[in-house]
Amino acid sequence: MRVLICDDEENIRNLMKRFLSMEGIEADAAENGLSAQRYMRENPYDALLVDLRMPGMDGLSLLKWMRDEGFRMPAIMISAHGDVSDAVAALKQGAQDYIVKPFDPEEVVIRIKGLVESQNLRNMVESGKDGGSTFIGESAEMAAIKRIIAKTAPSSATVLITGESGTGKEVVAREIHRLSSVSSGPFVAINIGGVPENLLESELFGYEKGAFTGAVQRKTGLFELAAGGTLFLDEIGDMPPALQVKILRVLQERKITRLGGTSSMPINARIVAATNKELEKQVREGKFREDLFYRLNVVRIELPPLRERKSDIPLLAAYIISKYNRIMGMRISGFTPEALEALKGHSFCGNVRELENIIERAMIFADSDVIDADDLDLRNTLDAGRSAAAPPSECLTLRDAEREAIIRSLHRWEGNRTRAAEELGISRRTLITKIQEYGIEI
Ligand SMILES: Nc1ncnc2c1ncn2[C@@H]1O[C@H](COP(=O)(O)OP(=O)(O)OP(=O)(O)O)[C@@H](O)[C@H]1O
Ligand SMILES: [Mg+2]
Repeated sequence: MRVLICDDEENIRNLMKRFLSMEGIEADAAENGLSAQRYMRENPYDALLVDLRMPGMDGLSLLKWMRDEGFRMPAIMISAHGDVSDAVAALKQGAQDYIVKPFDPEEVVIRIKGLVESQNLRNMVESGKDGGSTFIGESAEMAAIKRIIAKTAPSSATVLITGESGTGKEVVAREIHRLSSVSSGPFVAINIGGVPENLLESELFGYEKGAFTGAVQRKTGLFELAAGGTLFLDEIGDMPPALQVKILRVLQERKITRLGGTSSMPINARIVAATNKELEKQVREGKFREDLFYRLNVVRIELPPLRERKSDIPLLAAYIISKYNRIMGMRISGFTPEALEALKGHSFCGNVRELENIIERAMIFADSDVIDADDLDLRNTLDAGRSAAAPPSECLTLRDAEREAIIRSLHRWEGNRTRAAEELGISRRTLITKIQEYGIEI
């Protein structure tokens, strides 16, 4: 949680900063309205504590500016004794609460926390309504990422999002779109790895009637469809080399030509790309063009795996519960302390997606409206049995797990493929194919 304090009195700024930080709440302090505006443009805040009377821009004008600019965090007004009519004006201007000087700082902290909590709930409900996503995360790592998003979303810079599977790359892409200047335009997503190679080009660029056999009608490509909005190139690491050149040209010239077309047209879509592959490594191995990499890598957002930001687990878990309560019409209220501990001790190789799956399943199996450790059934997951402190490399992909299982079984049966295949529950042929595929030596 991060709070902005705006007051011309230095001792109030210092006092509130101290009390907030004792509660683990980050706080910045501005000495007047102008400086508060600057802080708010550059950082995301969960709440604002603002003095009504200040020289220069006063609290009311600041409030009005905030609402005009679309800032939606709750604001608490501080007013001097006797300023009742001003306080009323403040509430009308959208302040959620007001406090009269002299005040008890501890009580102010409690009120701030309460307001932020109810605001978070409201945000969740709203984002659920339009099917959008809420970007949850209060850890230092996620706070830093939120800051990058807030800073770059309004620009037109190309963003490259990287991170393991399930870390929330798509959530970030949508968040960038939501906070961008093109948020009223479309968010068009394409999963590069999911489209057959021979169709990819026409999906992206579109074609004119008669461009090739079967092109009976003109087709609009995704670059065009995303005009005035965002084009999300998901799994960009799977882009075939021939197409990489073409995409590079589009990004350089900001123009596209439909297949079979003669004239080019400008593209005006914000480009966001994501991949769970290590693009730098792919560049080194010659699988991904270096020039395209640099074109995409203008702003880089690297999502850390969930096991490296465990402090986000409780908040994410609460969010997931509220999401599935809504979807499944349930009334699960939360976790037992043991269940929460168990979650924090899990290594989540599948990241937030795994957390979501575990909780969804637990909600279905829970006997009461509180989820306990048994409901979570953490033994039944890929990384079960691995210690919480396991280094990241201990997280297995499905392929790793398969390879390991084969090696172990072959070892146990002293290289006898028939026996090993039987034990693994696959045919001997499949086993031999996999041995070759994984380069396993017997
Ligand atoms: N910070 C977050 N706040 C809320 N939900 C999240 C967050 N991060 C991830 N999720 C949820 O976790 C799931 C996986 O997220 P997402 O699809 O964005 O991951 P990804 O990084 O794109 O994964 P992949 O590489 O497998 O495509 C989604 O259901 C998403 O809503
Ligand atoms: Mg994804």
